[in-house]
Order: sequence, then structure tokens, then C-alpha cells
Amino acid sequence: MTAQIIDGKTIAQQVRAEWKVRADALKARGVTPGLAAVIVGNDPASKVYVANKVKACAELGMYSKHIELGSDISEAELLAEIAALNSDPKIHGILVQLPLPKHLDAHKVIEAINPDKDVDGFHEKNVGALVTGETPFPSCTPYGVMVLLEKTGIAIEGKHAVIVGRSNIVGKPMALLLLHKNATVTICTSKTVDLAKHTRDADILVAAVGKANFITGKMVKPGAVVIDVGINRNAEGKLVGDVDFASVKEVAGYITPVPGGVGPMTITMLMANTVRAAERLSGFSK
Ligand code: GUN
Repeated sequence: MTAQIIDGKTIAQQVRAEWKVRADALKARGVTPGLAAVIVGNDPASKVYVANKVKACAELGMYSKHIELGSDISEAELLAEIAALNSDPKIHGILVQLPLPKHLDAHKVIEAINPDKDVDGFHEKNVGALVTGETPFPSCTPYGVMVLLEKTGIAIEGKHAVIVGRSNIVGKPMALLLLHKNATVTICTSKTVDLAKHTRDADILVAAVGKANFITGKMVKPGAVVIDVGINRNAEGKLVGDVDFASVKEVAGYITPVPGGVGPMTITMLMANTVRAAERLSGFSK
């Protein structure tokens, strides 16, 4: 069997067009959705991600502010930047790109963001609301995976979803979003004993471990839906996912490529969350 490739780029364009309608409706009422993207330090990969986020804002006709801070910034200075963004009426969404340099307490920084502007959905208030199924801001990558599944017409209810990876950014929120759609959910880590036993039982397998080509064809049930959240560089410097595409595509029913799978959806859902934040802050929605 050769898997059907889920084209994240095309689906992302379609979803962005849907959200542009909402952004334009807000603009017609005098509110331009605005995103502030804060990056601390010089991590090249983070710089590319943030530049892409800012570019996507411009494409949707949104306002954006790209704030680059030196890696030696103090925690107090960073918190002051966030306080200024919290009270800036042109800014509806605030994103602080992670990871932060080691001397900064990421948890403290995230908690300083106004939860009504927390478009990453990382603030404890929004994480709590995610557990009860009421967050206005699902974290962008798992939210993007849910939209990819929906737009591809993949049923979730009653399916066994196995997630490899337990991060706060992807694994845990992914599990909750799938659970809310009545999947049976298993969360594994790269350390899970007999991992393949679990992954081979997955109808929907989400790989989010951050290890190049970690999931191989032998670990996948024939016909399964395989979603690759990984972004890694292999020995030749090529961008690869957590899934060994060549072997898994021969077994799976559906597969997302890297690049061009989940990545474009993450940025799209950041736009969606920013538009929603602007709607809420300007009193046009709950
Ligand atoms: N680093 C990796 N993924 C993300 C993300 O979705 N948001 C932020 N802020 N940082 C990240």
C-alpha cells in the first residue's frame, strides 16, 4: 500500500482564506488583528519560525510586531516588554518563541502574558480551559493537526490515537483535543517500554518526539493515519520529521510530509487564534 499524502500546504491556504474573511470583517469594524512575536537570542531555527509567523500575518492583512531581544536580556527587562504588549491596544496576540535562553524562567514569562492575548495557549488559565474543553486558544500545532484531520475527512470518534511525545507544546494538548473528539488516547514517550507494541495499535499515530526518522514502517499498523510533527535536520542537513517517510508511506493509509504537512498548519492556527483574540478583546465574540 502507498499512503495518501496529506497536503498541509494546500489545506493551510484554504483555512487561511476562511480566517481572512473573519479578519476582514473585524477590519471593517475598525479593528485590525495584531500579533506581537517576541524572540530572545539567536537560535537560527527559531528565527526562521518567527519570520514565517510575521510574514503570514502580513498575508492576512494583519498588524504584526517582531521584537528581537538579545540573549543577555534580563528576566525583568523581558517581563517589562511583555507588560507593555499586554497594555498595547494594537496587539491582540502575544507569542514568546520557545525555547528561551537558560537564565530565563519560561514558566514565569508565559504566566506574565495576559491570558486573553495568549494565542499560543500556554498560560495556565488556558491550559486549564483546554482540560475542560473550553479554551479559546488551543495550542497551534495540535490545533493544526485537528484541522488537518477534519479537512481530510478522517473520523476520530472511537479510534485509538497514540501520541509519541509528552511535551506541553504538542503531546499533552494533542491528547486532550483528540479525547474531546472521543478518541481513545494513549500517550507514549521515547522511553516507553516496547513502544512499537503501542504504535502498532494506533489508528491515528502522532509523532512528536523530536528524533529524526524515529517511527519506522514496522511500528505502524497497515492503513493507519500517521501525523508527523517533528522538524529535525538529518546528518546531511536536510529537514526531516520524526517519521521515516520512505518506510512508513508503504504501510500507512495517510501520512503528512515534512516539510509541507503540519508546519503550515501551525502558523495558520496562530493566525486563527490571533483573529479570535481580537474578536474577543474588541467585544465582538465571547
Ligand atoms: N517553539 C516551538 N513551537 C512553538 C510554538 O508553537 N510556540 C512558541 N511560542 N514557541 C514554540
